[in-house]
Amino acid sequence: MADPLNPEVRVYPDLEALSRAATEETTRLAQRAVAERACCALFLSGGKTPKRLYQMLAEGREHLPWESVHLFWGDERCVPPDHPESNYAMAYEALISQVPLPAENVHRIPAELPAEEAAEAYERTLRAFFAGASAAPDLILLGLGADGHTASLFPKDSLLHERSRWVKASVAPAEYAIRRRVTVTLALLNRARQLFFLVAGADKRRAIQQILAKKRALLETYPAARVQPQERLVWFLDNGARGTMA
Ligand code: 6PG
Repeated sequence: MADPLNPEVRVYPDLEALSRAATEETTRLAQRAVAERACCALFLSGGKTPKRLYQMLAEGREHLPWESVHLFWGDERCVPPDHPESNYAMAYEALISQVPLPAENVHRIPAELPAEEAAEAYERTLRAFFAGASAAPDLILLGLGADGHTASLFPKDSLLHERSRWVKASVAPAEYAIRRRVTVTLALLNRARQLFFLVAGADKRRAIQQILAKKRALLETYPAARVQPQERLVWFLDNGARGTMA
């Protein structure tokens, strides 16, 4: 049995190989979830890294029971759903438009609304969908910023201590082009059955090495260091991100 306290770390030569492996794991997990619970609740990550995985899921569309798959997002930028910086827009182009997914199975964050309003609306969506005490996301996909942020949970943000709300408005640091965001909190992330991080590129190496070193002092610095799903945590890394342990 996997141990979320001891994450699996898998290293691949490049993003293509990383995406292929993550696609296979995601497909197997979704098939099992549907077989066991007649549903797979899959949370998509934003950013650029997961796009190739989404394209591969679409290329292998015949392997997934799409009528039983429900898509959610871990975060969204406060832009319209057809904006080039929208996480939904990227997933729509790479995956949703390519597979026979019923429209009612796509649970988009309504980030065109004011951030607080969008967060409250999405909280209602998630609370309704995961109403049962044991109801939980089957798989959450996450990326990692070079500063160690994940979803739109940024280093040293007070949101890291949010214990009750599953969705909150967030503000990215000044260096980010789009600062107003909506993000799930650790309360939701850690409810997931399984959680995969997809991380590629040498710019992520320092954050990865510090997070995997599990230095308790870094729990405030790296939101990703506080992620602990119920059953299984897997880091899918390319050589650039992993480097060699210091
Ligand atoms: C977002 C993502 C964010 C992303 C990281 C990594 O909305 O930006 O949710 O957490 O996963 O910033 O982004 P890249 O994959 O583009 O490096």
